[in-house]
Amino acid sequence: MCSYCGCDSIEVIGRFMAEHVEIINATGELRRAVHASDPHAVEHTKAKVAELLWPHTQAEEGGLFRVMARDEVFTDHIATLCGEHRSLDEWLSDVVPGDLAAMARFEDALREHIDKEDNGLFPAAAVSLGGDDWIEVHETTPHSHGPGEPLHTHAHGEPVNAHRH
Ligand SMILES: [Fe+2]
Repeated sequence: MCSYCGCDSIEVIGRFMAEHVEIINATGELRRAVHASDPHAVEHTKAKVAELLWPHTQAEEGGLFRVMARDEVFTDHIATLCGEHRSLDEWLSDVVPGDLAAMARFEDALREHIDKEDNGLFPAAAVSLGGDDWIEVHETTPHSHGPGEPLHTHAHGEPVNAHRH
């Protein structure tokens, strides 16, 4: 497992849940900017939410969701969650200063979606995935270091010089 950048020092689920908190907090800043009808603050905070949200959903889909979806018990539910990721992107892009309804649509959907993951899918993963599954999840989950950093994965045995940190 990657030990170069420290982002694997917590299990992938812990990382996703911590990212949910960051996304919710940034969304609160966006809501305040929308309610204040402050165009500069909306532009800034909306970009911040997008920069957190997109790498996060890509990381979930690339590793954990892909592995879990192979179990037919979870296939449909994972497809629903992936569809919600797309809707969240669209609804975030609709948010503009002063549009409280568009803001509420995004934030309500975001909170509901995160609740499904934190209190549904993640606990289900903890009881249903085996050791080999977790190794695969960790090896195939893209890292997210923040805006501007490309998503990348690390596999066991990958030469150190393949990392561009
Ligand atoms: Fe998530």
